[in-house]
Amino acid sequence: MSTPTRPPNIAVLPGDGIGTEVLEQGLRVLGAIAPDVTTEHFDFGAERYLRDGTTLPDSALDRFRNEFDCIYLGALGDPRVPSNVHAKDILLGSRFKLDLYINFRPVRLLDARYCPLKDKRPEDVDFVVFRENTEGLYTGIGGQFKRDTADEIAIEQEINTRKGVERIIRAAFQWAHENGKTRVCMSDKANAMRHGHDLWQRVFRSVANEYPGIKPSHLYVDVLTMRMVQTPEDFEVIVTNNLFGDIVTDLGAAIQGGIGLAASGNLHPGKVGLYEPVHGSAPDIAGRGIANPFAAILTVGMMLGQLGRPADERRIGDAVGRCLIAGRVTRELGGNLTSSEAGSAVLDAMSA
Ligand code: IPM
Ligand code: MN
Repeated sequence: MSTPTRPPNIAVLPGDGIGTEVLEQGLRVLGAIAPDVTTEHFDFGAERYLRDGTTLPDSALDRFRNEFDCIYLGALGDPRVPSNVHAKDILLGSRFKLDLYINFRPVRLLDARYCPLKDKRPEDVDFVVFRENTEGLYTGIGGQFKRDTADEIAIEQEINTRKGVERIIRAAFQWAHENGKTRVCMSDKANAMRHGHDLWQRVFRSVANEYPGIKPSHLYVDVLTMRMVQTPEDFEVIVTNNLFGDIVTDLGAAIQGGIGLAASGNLHPGKVGLYEPVHGSAPDIAGRGIANPFAAILTVGMMLGQLGRPADERRIGDAVGRCLIAGRVTRELGGNLTSSEAGSAVLDAMSA
């Protein structure tokens, strides 16, 4: 006898700036394609922080762990909060405390017209980046000495654990294996960073040996950025550390047509994942209803894919692709749609 399972439950954190605007459109698409899914909104973000100092309480993290299948986040960042401490607490806090070690960022060109690279077609720009998400240069370990003096020293430690390096590299190979890919490229800077990145090299070689059907390759990160621009067709899966992954996925977003089209998932198989557009809160255009909701909508697709509904993910991706081809896009892509018109365009394309 099968045990009855409840429908997926999603924690929604619109956050700041355009995060709230794009999530509204993502939720319209979610409601249309997966009406059984339940959601609960959380108000963590700049407003809440400025009101009562709350960033992300442990009690909320406990609820995410125990009661939800996914977290759907808009964006965090507000000019009123000095150095955006709330954003760091909420975003990096959930990545670290929920141990979401995979930052999964697909780079997929849906229509050639939006690619800034000459003569590249959708089949040329189609790879995924596995960004390590729980260590590297992001842990905040370090310190300052003689602050605000001419002799100041500031140290930022890069953390590379064997366990951390191994699990992200294995995730990249495993995903390649399960998705019919035959190439995994690891990127580091082992020619200059002799300790931590030597660990990446050794672990990469040993995990690669477990996947004889997959061709491992390596590029120093400076060369990787060049190749992503010149020959993006060389890549199927890229695996790299936290900071390099941050940088190369913005480059990836640019070559797939812009940051308004890039979706991401912060994942740990078997645990609640956090899904978000790669873009930020864009305070310069916030409140005007013109932000591109496609990344947030594609993020809904990714979430549904991870929830075991790959057909819904494909349907959303196809619908966004059709909007792009038809030029039904927001202003930064050369169209004239508002965020909500762009959301409606996707809904139309889904039912067409
Ligand atoms: C991202 C963002 C974050 C990061 C910032 C807001 C800390 O740029 O998700 O790519 O660097 O990870
Ligand atoms: Mn980033």
